[in-house]
Formats: sequence, structure tokens, C-alpha cells
Amino acid sequence: MSYERKEIAPEEIARQEEICRRIFDRVTADGQRPLAMVDTYGCQQNEADSEKLRGYLAEMGYGFTRDEFQADVIVVNTCAVREHAEMRVFGNVGALNHTKKARPHQIIAVCGCMVQQPHIAEKIKKSYPIVDLVFGPHELWRFPELLERAMTGKKRVFATEKSDGAVVEGIPQRRDGSVKAWLSIMYGCNNFCTYCIVPYVRGRERSRRPEEVVAEARELIAAGYKDITLLGQNVNSYGKDLGLGVDFADLIRMVDAIDGDYVLRFMTSHPKDATEKLFRTMAESRHCAHHIHLPVQSGSNRVLKAMNRSYTREKYLEQVRLARSYMPDLVLTTDIIVGFPGETEEEFEDTLSLVEEVRYDAMFTFIYSKRVGTPAASMPDPYTRADKQKHFDRLTELSNRISGEKHREYEGRTLRVLIDGETGREEYNLSARTDGGRLVHLKGEPSLVGQFAEVTITASNTWALYGEIRNSEFGVRN
Ligand code: SAH
Ligand code: SF4
Ligand code: F3S
Repeated sequence: MSYERKEIAPEEIARQEEICRRIFDRVTADGQRPLAMVDTYGCQQNEADSEKLRGYLAEMGYGFTRDEFQADVIVVNTCAVREHAEMRVFGNVGALNHTKKARPHQIIAVCGCMVQQPHIAEKIKKSYPIVDLVFGPHELWRFPELLERAMTGKKRVFATEKSDGAVVEGIPQRRDGSVKAWLSIMYGCNNFCTYCIVPYVRGRERSRRPEEVVAEARELIAAGYKDITLLGQNVNSYGKDLGLGVDFADLIRMVDAIDGDYVLRFMTSHPKDATEKLFRTMAESRHCAHHIHLPVQSGSNRVLKAMNRSYTREKYLEQVRLARSYMPDLVLTTDIIVGFPGETEEEFEDTLSLVEEVRYDAMFTFIYSKRVGTPAASMPDPYTRADKQKHFDRLTELSNRISGEKHREYEGRTLRVLIDGETGREEYNLSARTDGGRLVHLKGEPSLVGQFAEVTITASNTWALYGEIRNSEFGVRN
């Protein structure tokens, strides 16, 4: 694949920030604080992108609201991974007809993965005249410029040119929480799994420079963030495009060297190139959670091949064995697609048997969704939606049973959790996560949010653990 790594020059971002100041003068001229709403669909990468959109909007003087009738600017950041996500976006954007009627000056922008597909951009152009601005993931860095054009020009603005993508540094960010933070380490995907739209809409794999990642991690830790997730579609190929001899395990080591009381996580790992070095690095690190999200997608070698996943069931199971040999307490989660075109009963049974063998702590299961332009979309698929639903239900039942059993094993144990929020419920008013990412319900002082605590697990069910706080702020593990 010929692809040249491209970086957006810092002067370009400075120019965007200058436009932010211009918009500030325009939208605050009447002395009122304008409001914006950013609505996010899809994965953590999109959440991270929305934090940048909010960063720009904050520089433009906007406050934030969740009420679309109050908003002067609405940005809908979309996901294209399954049809269901797209239908929701169309439904919700359609409903904005009412808000635009009530507030004719309102600017409606639709961005993200979905609009990077030409047939979707076309559909918005034709059927959703209330949308003023449409831009794909590759244009996010110049959102201020595009928004200014939508505000001042007479025409609707569409910026969805095909692109391999670039690496951009220095966009202001307004993070959602104060405990957990996303840290993108790379963008795009080169894997072209045959069912997946991501490589078409997110461009080629490109890594941020290690010093940029480390500097951002250092800032987050200094600001008091306690849970940092390194993000990429396939973090295991980090650094390949940089040619610096720094791979993902090296990057973990560099971040882990930063002192402080925090947990380090990452997602997603593609099983084809998770290495022994990675497992060893995780086991030896001071801050890495002993958790891997290792999407298997299917337990059938025929289906894995048709999916272009580049590993076999046997290789996958070997990876799991190896990872567990370094981390006996490893929490393992996965993604599975049910009903890939042509998946037979026996092939589905292979998935069930793999799940029984691995015993995942939790699974994300999806019914295959046909994506325009992907190779799987033209594969023969004789099975009905009802067949697939039956398989899906069986898999869910198995997954729930195993999660319930695994959760029961926690009962009576005392372990460290990070208290990450309030639930609004009386009995268990706090929520927390174990290092492995399991949800724990607790009762305690709201001031404990953002702190580590030692808890004893007293009860559990399929979805969560329940515990009692022994003491809080007992410091770093290891
Ligand atoms: N880069 C990540 C996954 C990103 S998409 C990885 O490779 O693991 C998240 C999950 O959505 C995938 O793991 C897959 O299980 C599911 N998915 C992707 N495309 C899909 C499709 N067309 N239909 C159903 N599920 C899909
Ligand atoms: Fe999609 Fe596969 Fe890339 Fe994941 S690795 S984003 S599933 S193409
Ligand atoms: Fe969806 Fe785009 Fe993420 S398609 S899953 S928001 S990369």
C-alpha cells in the first residue's frame, strides 16, 4: 500500500484558532452566551473527536447544552459501523426539523464516519435540507473554517472528499470527565476486514509520534486523571508507519514510566499481531490493567478467512494461552459477529465452543450488518434475519451465563477499584471499575468519586459486582 504519512502544520491549527476568535466576536456580540450541542454516536474514537469539536466550540465562546431547542449550533458526530447506528442518526436528524423551525438561525452540522460515505452525503444533500454543514473525519481539524463558511455563506457546506487522512496535533480539547480520559495514539485502519466500513471512512493507519503521546499522558496524569485509555482501531500496529523502531509495547513502557496513581488501558488489539512482548510488557508494567479486549469475531476458520482476519481459531487460542501465562488474573473481553454471510449452523457452533473454551469476562455481540462497498456485502447469504436472531440469542445466553459465573468468583475477594461516578440511586449510589474494567456498585461518600478504594465484593450478577468499601486512596498497586 503506497501511503505517505501526512502531518497538518501547526500554523494551520493556529489559523483555525484565529477563526475561532472571529466567530467568538460574531456570536457573543449581543452579550448573550451562545449554546452548542454535540451528539456522539459510535466508538471511543468518536468520543475523542467530539471532545475536540467541543474544544473548538468552547474557544468560539459557546457554552454547552443537551437541549436541542436551546442550541444555536448542533453537531451530530456519526458512526457507520452498523445500519442500526445510521438509522438512529437519520431519525434524530429528521427530528431537528422542529428545532430549526423554532430557532431559524440554528446551524445543524452532521460529521463523522457516516457522512464520509458518498451515498450518505448524497442522501443528506437531497433529503435533509435542514442540515447546513456536512464534514467527514478527515476535515475535523478545520471545523472552525467550515462552520464560519456555513454561518456566513449562502450555500450549504459539504466537505467529504476522499482522503487517506493525516496526523493532526494541537487541536484544543474539552474532555467529558475528570476521572477517565481517552488518548488517541493512532488513526485509521489498514486491515480491511471484509465486513467493516472503518478503513474506508477513517483512512490509512497513521501513528502519532511517541513524544506527543507521552506528553499528553503526562498532562492528563498531572491534571488528576486516573484512568487513561490509549485508543486506536488496532493499537498493535502502532508505530509501523513512523519507522522509529518504537512499537506498541515500547509505547506502553514509555507511558508507564510516568509516575502517578493511574490505570493504563488500551483498545483495540487485533489478534493477528498481539505479541508476546506486549503481554510481557503488560505483566511487568506498573500501571497497565490486566485486561485485553481481543475481538475474535468468529470461532470458525472458514468464516475467519472469509472475514480476512488473518488468524485461525488455533492461533487465537494460543494467544489467549500465552497472555494468561503472563497474567493469570487477566480479564478478557471480545467482539463477535453473528450471521456473517453464509455462516452455517456448524460454523456458529464453532463460535459457541470457542466461547466455552476461552470463557470471556464479557462479550460484545453483533448481528452482521451489510455495509455498502465492503467485500462481504456481495457474498451470498442464504440465511434469514430470524436464523441469525436465534443464533444471537443463544450466544447471548451463553455469554451471560459465563459472565455470571465469572462474577460469582469475585464474591468474598477484596480488590482495588476506581470510583468513577454517582448513580443517582439510593442503595448503591456510587459506581466503580476494577482494574479489569468490571462494573462495581458501592455505597459511600460522593466525594470519593475520582479515588481508588479497596472494596470487598459481597454480591454479583451477570452484569455487575456489588461491594463494600474497606478504605479509599490506598495508593498504587504493585
Ligand atoms: N478495530 C476494532 C473494531 C472496530 S468496530 C477491531 O478490529 O477489533 C467494533 C466491532 O463492531 C467489531 O469488532 C465488530 O465485531 C463489529 N462490527 C464491525 N463491522 C460490523 C458489521 N458490518 N456488522 C456487524 N458488526 C460489525
Ligand atoms: Fe474494522 Fe477490521 Fe479495521 Fe477493526 S481491524 S476497524 S474490524 S477493518
Ligand atoms: Fe463507528 Fe467510525 Fe468508530 S464507523 S465504530 S465511529 S471509527
